[in-house]
Amino acid sequence: MALSTSSIGKKFIQSISGAFLILFLLLHATINFFSVIDSFTGKYGAVAVDEKLFSAGDGLFKLGCDFMSTPFISIMVPILALGFLIHILYGCWLTWRNMKARGGFKRYEVASKAAADSWSAKNMFILGIVIFGFIAFHLTHFWAKMQLPEMFGIGTYEDNPYVLLNTVFSKWWVLVLYIVWFGALFLHLTHGFWSMFQTVGWSGQTWMKRLKVIGVVVASIICLAFAAVAVNAFLQANALI
Ligand code: HEM
Repeated sequence: MALSTSSIGKKFIQSISGAFLILFLLLHATINFFSVIDSFTGKYGAVAVDEKLFSAGDGLFKLGCDFMSTPFISIMVPILALGFLIHILYGCWLTWRNMKARGGFKRYEVASKAAADSWSAKNMFILGIVIFGFIAFHLTHFWAKMQLPEMFGIGTYEDNPYVLLNTVFSKWWVLVLYIVWFGALFLHLTHGFWSMFQTVGWSGQTWMKRLKVIGVVVASIICLAFAAVAVNAFLQANALI
C-alpha cells in the first residue's frame, strides 16, 4: 500500500494516529474517573501530609496524578503531542485535498453510502477543529497549572490536584463548555473508530455493524467517564454533595 498515492494509504496515517489518541483518552479518562470513585470512598480531596509520591494516605485520583508525573509518562508527553499534531495536520491536509478534488467542502474520503449518510462522517473536520480548540482551552486549565510549573520545580497544584479540579469546575458555564466538548468528542470518536478499522482493511458488512456498535460503546465509556468527572467536581466544588 503506497502511503502517498492510494486513497486508503492516505488515511492510514490518520487511522494509526487516531488509534494512539484513543488509547491516550482511555488512560486519561480512567485516571480522572478515579476522582469520582474517591467521592464514593470518602477520599475525594485526600492528600497525605508527607507530600510523597504514591503515599498510602492519598486518594486514587492523587495516585493517578502521581503516576502521570513519573518519568515514563513524561517521556510520552512529547510523543503524545506529536500524535495530536500529526492527526490534526494530516486531517487538515486530507480535507483540503478533497475540497480541491471535488470543488467544494466535503469530508476527505467517503468509502461507503453508510459513511456518507452519517452526520459525523461529513463533519469530522469541523468536529476536529472544535475538539482542538477546546484542548487548547483545557491545557490552560490543567497542564499549564500542573505539569508545566512542575517541570520548573515551582508546582503547587500537583500536591493537591483536587483543589485544581474544584477550581476549574466550580463555575457552571465551564461545566457546560466541557460537556459540549465531550459531545463533539463523542461524535468524532463514534465515526473515527469504525473508519479506522475500515482503513486498515477490516471491512465486510457483518464486521462493520459490530465495529460501529463497539465504537459507540468505547466513545460512550470515554465521554461519560469525562462527563461524570466534570459533574462530580462541580457538585463537590459547590458543596452540593
Ligand atoms: C473532565 C475531563 C478532564 C479532566 C478533569 C482532565 C484533567 C487533566 C489534567 C489534570 C491534566 C494534567 C496532566 C495530568 O497530570 O494528568 C490534563 C492534561 C491533558 N489533557 Fe485532560 N482532562 C479532561 C479531559 C480531556 C479530554 C477530553 C482531552 C482530549 C480530547 C484531554 C486532553 C489532555 C491533554 C492532551 C493533556 C496534556 C497531556 C498530559 O498532561 O497528559 N483531556 N487533563
